[in-house]
Amino acid sequence: MALKNRKILLGVTGSIAVHKAVDLARRLTEQGASVHVVMTDAAKKFVTPLSFEVASQNKVHSDMFADPLSHITLAADADIVVVAPASANSIGKFAGGIADDLLSTCMLSVTGKALLAPAMNWRMYENGVLQRNLQFLISRGMLQVGPERGSLACGEEAIGRMADVPEILEAIRAALSEQDFSGRKIVVTAGPTREYIDPVRFISNRSSGKMGFAIARAAMRRGATVTLVSGPAQVNPPCRVEFIAVETAAAMREAVLGKLHDCAVLIMTAAVADFSPLRREDKKVDKSDSLTLNLKKTPDILAEIGAMKQRPLLVGFSAETGADLSRAKRKRKEKGADLMVFNNVESPGSGFDVDTNEITIIEADNVTTLPLMTKDEAADALLDRVSTFIS
Ligand code: PMT
Repeated sequence: MALKNRKILLGVTGSIAVHKAVDLARRLTEQGASVHVVMTDAAKKFVTPLSFEVASQNKVHSDMFADPLSHITLAADADIVVVAPASANSIGKFAGGIADDLLSTCMLSVTGKALLAPAMNWRMYENGVLQRNLQFLISRGMLQVGPERGSLACGEEAIGRMADVPEILEAIRAALSEQDFSGRKIVVTAGPTREYIDPVRFISNRSSGKMGFAIARAAMRRGATVTLVSGPAQVNPPCRVEFIAVETAAAMREAVLGKLHDCAVLIMTAAVADFSPLRREDKKVDKSDSLTLNLKKTPDILAEIGAMKQRPLLVGFSAETGADLSRAKRKRKEKGADLMVFNNVESPGSGFDVDTNEITIIEADNVTTLPLMTKDEAADALLDRVSTFIS
């Protein structure tokens, strides 16, 4: 979900977390969003409007009377209103319908999407009055991101820290995405597995995890409850997904089987090692001129689930060297998958490690070849196809 050309009204209230909001405005602007900032007087005690003007490349608003209609037009023009940080006072005003400054008046006129990122001391956050106000706003359709547990301004470790900027960005993207997977549980596997020879050596396959992580992120933005089961990957897990780290094919199998209950879709991008050593040595094996390894097949997770009577919609991935689809087509049938995604890892810009991919989606009676695109775009294109099977 691209933020390019999206219009965002950023409300900033008085909190030590205001400096993070400057970074949020900068990151949104960098990603092509048009950002307008409304600051309360309390916010201006922490950071000057100039910081937000530089970050958003737009004039900052705070005077309700400078433009008599701004309290209506600012909110009406925005795709989403984000209040970050949202202080206890501002949340109380929004919930009580108080309109005594530009931001609270804008919030009373919002008819579209609104996201709150609360930030305050834990005592205030846990106070029943604040909680009642917040729940009331949520019951009326407002969205919330954070707060998190961490070191607060007072030095205490507790709940109340404003969510970090990447998490707020993710919540904004999710809020602006179509929620066509809402209420669906999706399990995604990613990354390589490691099959240990001894405590320091292993057999593995190539995979950075990027393709699987992009699918998990896209599904989460589209409203799914996502579990991401991943071998050791080179990228950070997306925010707001359940992340299960595994190493071996056997551990991946156990984790996936444990998450199948109520699962609507299983998407296996993982590059599961096909073989593991017959025995894992407890101590590091001595170096010698040659080493003979006896290997056994790892459990085929996709095939095992493909053979189940009751199973989720199954999507496999097939990394191939060359443009011939026949192996991927065969794997789809043999493993009992509904869809198999063919991935020519020799095609430039495609496959392992890179941020782009060129995929072909193979179904029982349909084959769709997509052009080279970012892995985020490929993930959405795949989910578009998947959604036609489960709706
Ligand atoms: O992680 P990146 O760097 O972004 O790279 C992405 C990718 C190239 C690894 C990914 O797009 C991809 O193609 N993954 C499939 C890797 C592969 O070759 O799978 P396979 O052909 O060995 O297996 C076919 C399917 O069976 C896969 O869905 C696999 O997860 C599954 N499988 C395989 C072996 C096994 N023991 N159990 C399985 O479940």
